[in-house]
Amino acid sequence: MPSVLHAPAPGWTTDTDVVVIGSGIAGLVAALRCRPHGRVLLVTKALLDAGSTRWAQGGIAAALAPDDTPEDHLADTLTAGVGLCDVDAVRALVTEGPDAVRDLIGLGAAFDRSTGGEIALTREGGHHRRRIAHAGGDATGAEISRALLAALKDSGVEVIEHALVLDLLKDGAGRAAGVTLHVMGEGQPGGVGAVRARAVVLATGGLGQVFSATTNPEVSTGDGVALALRAGAEVADLEFVQFHPTVLWLGADARGQQPLISEAVRGEGAQLVDHTGERFMLGRHDLAELAPRDVVAKGIMNRMRETGASHMLLDGRHFGAAMWENRFPTILAACRHHGIDPVTRPVPVVPAAHYASGGVRTDLHGRTSVPGLYACGEVACTGVHGANRLASNSLLEGLVFAARIATALEQDLAATSLRPPPAGAVDGADQDAGVPVGSGLVGGEARGEIQRIMTSYAGVLRGADGLERAARELAGLGQDAGAEPGVAAWEVTNLHTVASAIVAAARRRAETRGSHWREDFPGRADGAWRGHLVTRLAGDVLATRYEPLEGKRS
Ligand code: SIN
Repeated sequence: MPSVLHAPAPGWTTDTDVVVIGSGIAGLVAALRCRPHGRVLLVTKALLDAGSTRWAQGGIAAALAPDDTPEDHLADTLTAGVGLCDVDAVRALVTEGPDAVRDLIGLGAAFDRSTGGEIALTREGGHHRRRIAHAGGDATGAEISRALLAALKDSGVEVIEHALVLDLLKDGAGRAAGVTLHVMGEGQPGGVGAVRARAVVLATGGLGQVFSATTNPEVSTGDGVALALRAGAEVADLEFVQFHPTVLWLGADARGQQPLISEAVRGEGAQLVDHTGERFMLGRHDLAELAPRDVVAKGIMNRMRETGASHMLLDGRHFGAAMWENRFPTILAACRHHGIDPVTRPVPVVPAAHYASGGVRTDLHGRTSVPGLYACGEVACTGVHGANRLASNSLLEGLVFAARIATALEQDLAATSLRPPPAGAVDGADQDAGVPVGSGLVGGEARGEIQRIMTSYAGVLRGADGLERAARELAGLGQDAGAEPGVAAWEVTNLHTVASAIVAAARRRAETRGSHWREDFPGRADGAWRGHLVTRLAGDVLATRYEPLEGKRS
């Protein structure tokens, strides 16, 4: 595993106070909120709206209803997280969440309203109440993205699009001092350059592209987690990759980004049935189709095995055409595009990789274990999600914890600990320009192979033999490393690093908990495993240590 993606000295340099990497809800909110405290540069890998946020359908969870409370939201979040949530982080989420959503409305986000004018709320898996605000029916992320991008326009935040972040820069004291990045867009300084900054905020989103089929867009290649590992930061809970229960089934060979069928469809009353029409979630959980999503994903996988079927069915025919058109226009269009009309036939569904509950470990204000490096959104592990994220808590987490980073940065930037690095004092992460580190890059052609390995052996169902095989095959790809530098190899090297870290943690956790499902250890083992697996990269060795929670409420 390379210690840096790009060793030679960068071709150009620019300065700012805060560099934010990523332009989903977390990155945009972090950039907007940090702007009053200094110069902010927002760097994003493709177009500003190309990340996961704009694909979010169901909505954003917050205790907004008169009969709901943050305590109730907290209870549902802890239950979904199966004993591994950080209660203080969840408390921050649920108590600050309602005002954060109101702030978003103040910025111009138009959530759907009931006929009485109140925000319309729906239910999703694991929620005991209607608590999910949505927009455009099932286009919540697109509306949030639109509102935040409109706010960005006159904010004074500088932007670089089409720029793949490579590595963290550190000063001589080991503090984050910027990033190297490769700019691919026209009309911008090209090639590999350096952004020198007093603070770096990672908001790079998810890692779903380590699997063959995922709800994540092409850009979700785990760049932030891989960068953080190379920079010596701690990552936690990586084994908890969440599989969304209901993704449109497009055949056994479907690859890449798959159409999501939102939990909200079940929230509004659609039922999961097998090919005989039996509602197989009844009797598996009190909430049936609205059980937490790990329970529903397992229910679907088990029923597929019991019946030998390649998929299950989601029946929402009773909604009628008008409700499909008004409430779920995006999903209706995606299904019809693939020749399935949910108004007249049940929708074929399977689970697919959806969300990383773990990530770069942070405190309650987004600070990572590397001073000056912050993380928020899906790339972060704030402790909110534990072993399984509660539906629609992710947009809220991005909103709340990005704002918390801005609060922390106001103090941290004023403190001596984050001085601007003197010119010439910044080296590449742990390397001097010109010191040979060996490329160690995994070639772009290995992308499909990594996805095949992860899907076959480290997907929704895991076991010791398969995980051992995944580790061996991934190590083999790493040994062959030595590819030419370039975007494809950099991205695939990130995928390889992240896949290897997921497998290392998944092998270690010998129990079934939340979205980590071990066939050889089918039960939850609180005595041995109520704790976190924390991974660091030391040289080219991934070291994973266990941190028990010992009596802490979670
Ligand atoms: C969905 O709409 O089902 C996705 C919501 C989420 O991932 O929280």
